[in-house]
Amino acid sequence: MSFFKTVLFWIFVGFISVKACSDFVFIVDGEVDENFAGRALQRRKEIALKTAQQLDLGFHRAALIFYGKRPSSNLLITSFEEDQTKDLFTSKLRAQFDNLLLKNASKALEPSYGASDAIETLLKQVLPHKKMGALVILLFFTDGKARENENGRLEKLTAKLSKKHYIHSFVINSESSISEERLQTLLLLTNGEKKSIITSQDRQQTLEQKMISTLRSFISCEQTSKFRTLRRKPIALSPAAPVAPITATTQIPPKAPRFNPRTTTQKPSRVSSGSRFGGCMMDIVFLMDFSGGARDKREKYINIASEMIRNMQLGENETQIAFVRYSGLKRTDSVFHFKKHYNASEAIEEIAKTPTLGGTTRTGAAMLDASKEFDRRFGGRTTAQKFMIVFTDAYSQDDPVDASAKLYQERVKVLAVAVDDAIQPPDHEQLKSIATDQKSIFLEKDFHKLFTYFSQCRQ
Ligand SMILES: *[C@@H]1O[C@H](CO)[C@@H](O)[C@H](O)[C@H]1NC(C)=O
Ligand SMILES: *[C@@H]1O[C@H](CO)[C@@H](O)[C@H](O)[C@H]1NC(C)=O
Ligand SMILES: *[C@@H]1O[C@H](CO)[C@@H](O)[C@H](O)[C@H]1NC(C)=O
Repeated sequence: MSFFKTVLFWIFVGFISVKACSDFVFIVDGEVDENFAGRALQRRKEIALKTAQQLDLGFHRAALIFYGKRPSSNLLITSFEEDQTKDLFTSKLRAQFDNLLLKNASKALEPSYGASDAIETLLKQVLPHKKMGALVILLFFTDGKARENENGRLEKLTAKLSKKHYIHSFVINSESSISEERLQTLLLLTNGEKKSIITSQDRQQTLEQKMISTLRSFISCEQTSKFRTLRRKPIALSPAAPVAPITATTQIPPKAPRFNPRTTTQKPSRVSSGSRFGGCMMDIVFLMDFSGGARDKREKYINIASEMIRNMQLGENETQIAFVRYSGLKRTDSVFHFKKHYNASEAIEEIAKTPTLGGTTRTGAAMLDASKEFDRRFGGRTTAQKFMIVFTDAYSQDDPVDASAKLYQERVKVLAVAVDDAIQPPDHEQLKSIATDQKSIFLEKDFHKLFTYFSQCRQ
């Protein structure tokens, strides 16, 4: 009875969330070639406004980044605000253009911020607020003129964007011709997709028609988020969930019995006597994102893991650890299995000398691969509590939701660990889809808790 109630509850949530379709980000270059400044800018304004008018804000959300010569280094005009209506958004967009057109506001200003500055703003201030499961559509309104010494940085930042599976990028270009050099910049912005550069070059269609036909499937809000939301919470469907008595707390995720092996009332103690009660055996897989994008995080991950391991009671009848590194598809590599290290220093030493893999990031696939470590043939114990600790900045090309749900059903508790990054903060939404629950996400401020998380029996 309560089981069905719970299922219905989640279906209900699924339908509500259909409202949020895509997150659009308008990234507008406020600078045009000198000669035709007024006319070219007017044209860019028209097409940007026309595009905004296609969007049903309320279903979609929109953010605006405006670059070029600016009075301040803050390029974010508006982020995804819940009460953003179409009128509000278009008036903000219009005001940015009008400032330039009417007041000559930018003439005296230096420097000119380029697309790379705009993308940095996007990574830092906009993407962290994207909606879970939503696509992010980037619309660059620019002629593709690169700013001085910008190319290297632009390449690096667009490479970061290309790692994100949920992003679709388009350029909307209202100029009458594009030079070869500028085309290269535009291609960087669209991740090499020429089809995603919307121009009026072909005379069959106006730029407006082209924009509408290219963006149609995104504008029309195909209701894909429904299924994602339904899958997000495996709790009610998990065979591990005991049938709870009918109470008001039905919706609280039940704990899997094996996460709670201590049936006696004994206080947990640092002295690892747990095994004598057949309780405190833990099998813990450390899974680390050693992809190209996380290269600079390797050392931090290793330091955190080392501190955790130093606080564990390793042993044949106590805590066992395995270590797995990963990057892209089919690039999950077991460095050591469970029975190899019962000596913390030796385990840490082997982890510390493991090099990165480079390449892309597929966290969901890696989690499934790494779950094989729990097999008996690799030293897993059927009577142990199972944990997987995923170290990642959570910019995976696949969606880890399904993998996390599967592991939950196999009674593996998944912890997600992410370190700070000023340029590109960890994707919190994806950390949520990796971790078993909200409490199992650990950011820098929580590390002190993480270090001793396994130093005694888990409740
Ligand atoms: C803007 O610049 C143009 C040409 O440089 C000038 O004629 C015009 O008066 C300026 N407008 C304002 C409002 O300053
Ligand atoms: C672990 O437990 C088994 C079975 O109780 C016992 O035979 C073995 O000696 C124990 N190992 C250690 C290192 O205590
Ligand atoms: C663990 O290994 C280190 C280095 O091999 C060694 O010095 C140390 O004595 C070992 N510790 C135990 C408890 O065996």
